[in-house]
Amino acid sequence: MLDTDFHITTISDDGSYTAFSKEYNEHYHSTKDGALNESLNKHVIPAFKVKMHQDEINILDICFGLGFNTLATIYFVKKNSLSCRLNIYSPELDAKLINSLENFIYPKEFEELREIIVKLIKNGYYKDEQLFIELFLGDAREYITKFTDKFDIVYQDAFSPSANPTLWTLEYFSDIAKAMKKDGILTTYSISLPTRIALFENGFTLYLNSGDGFRDSTVASRSLLGEFSFVDVEHKMRCNPEIASLRDCVKLG
Ligand SMILES: C[S@@+](CC[C@H](N)C(=O)[O-])C[C@H]1O[C@@H](n2cnc3c(N)ncnc32)[C@H](O)[C@@H]1O
Repeated sequence: MLDTDFHITTISDDGSYTAFSKEYNEHYHSTKDGALNESLNKHVIPAFKVKMHQDEINILDICFGLGFNTLATIYFVKKNSLSCRLNIYSPELDAKLINSLENFIYPKEFEELREIIVKLIKNGYYKDEQLFIELFLGDAREYITKFTDKFDIVYQDAFSPSANPTLWTLEYFSDIAKAMKKDGILTTYSISLPTRIALFENGFTLYLNSGDGFRDSTVASRSLLGEFSFVDVEHKMRCNPEIASLRDCVKLG
């Protein structure tokens, strides 16, 4: 159980637990897709489909929350005996949530990774021969401006654009683009047109990630990806001229 006034632990449809945030009025994961299933199928598997042959992979995990995307990445790498070095950087605003994660009921797939969570809570980082994780307690908007041309993978997993708009604007994705390598890949559960337009306006090509057992999600890159089907955002923009990307200057929140 999570020891905070602002969260309710909930079971999701794949049997893994997630949480409901009273502050954002949203679950941390899709309860329909399931927390672990969503993390693997909408983030880790599509990203590694493209990047698994690299010797070293730098990942930006927006935002840490319950840590599923970071933990599912490590689980995936170990399960598939990948030898790549992993450097994961993850911001999180909610220090109280992080401090309560020791009591969270993680899926059995993460059982061997509990020591990582304990060390991350205690030290703000974790390090071993294959893995480095930095958990930054603070605002993701500030954190991402520290990086240039760094990330191979970005997991864009903030609360929804309506609940957490500052992490979905044109200007936010401009900073994300600067922080990513040109051939980096961004994964997100969002298939909303304003999100896709904000990415497109920052030079990303948009792709559809679909499969059995989870709802469609989006993959984006400034390089061409043969692994996914192309989403024609320009066509969608012509068909929906009233829809635009979110902007920082419009009062958000
Ligand atoms: C949908 S949850 C992330 C789920 C996470 N990937 C997981 O696997 O559990 C969104 C998280 O973003 C955090 N958050 C919201 N705004 C933020 C900001 N500006 N900077 C850093 N973290 C933020 C919230 O506290 C919440 O933990």
